Amino acid sequence: MNLELFEHTGPAGGVEPMGKQAFILRGGALAELPQLLHALAGVEAASPFRHMVTPGGRPMSVALTNCGEWGWVSDSRGYRYTRLDPMTGRTWPPMPDVFARLAAHAAAAAGFAGFVPDACLVNRYLPGSRLTLHQDRNEQDFGAPIVSVSLGIPAVFLFGGHQRGDRPARFPLFHGDVAVWGGADRLRYHGIMPLRDGHHPALGAQRINFTLRKAG
Ligand code: SIN
Ligand code: FE2
Repeated sequence: MNLELFEHTGPAGGVEPMGKQAFILRGGALAELPQLLHALAGVEAASPFRHMVTPGGRPMSVALTNCGEWGWVSDSRGYRYTRLDPMTGRTWPPMPDVFARLAAHAAAAAGFAGFVPDACLVNRYLPGSRLTLHQDRNEQDFGAPIVSVSLGIPAVFLFGGHQRGDRPARFPLFHGDVAVWGGADRLRYHGIMPLRDGHHPALGAQRINFTLRKAG
């Protein structure tokens, strides 16, 4: 499984540039792992994973949920942030402290001091799931970076340019890696290649990604 990916991974604690203001902090989430997984279980119990539908009417291959003041949703009306979970009719579960703390820490390490996220999108990928190239641009404030934490089986992150057609670079993301992009790189196109089969000792045959943003 994915042997060629492992040849490219750096040591935990390494910082790998993807752009001028974009980095992968290898293993950046490993120290908080038990707390992260515990908090994730709480989020999922309150607002379960579900497959949303794109504005074009197709079900997304990635299942998602949210926590924090704002949650990202997609439906026939488009992409946007909402305060209420459309599935439960209640507010999204609060952002666990450990998520906000990790996000602030990782952002600062990448040169973005004072990051206070108010939205966390949690994506669940099963083998075959993918995320096509897109920009994160439903947020009010592009001054804040995006912090993205990978757990479970590895994935190939596509990091493109400012035009959809720009050829993306490929970066493997492993369990515990944290990617941060902001500033000049904030609006770069990005995505995830179809997830390969695999098994992770803690998470089984899935990849969980959570992306922390300042949305409101
Ligand atoms: C995203 O772009 O929202 C998620 C990226 C990822 O799953 O790593
Ligand atoms: Fe994104």
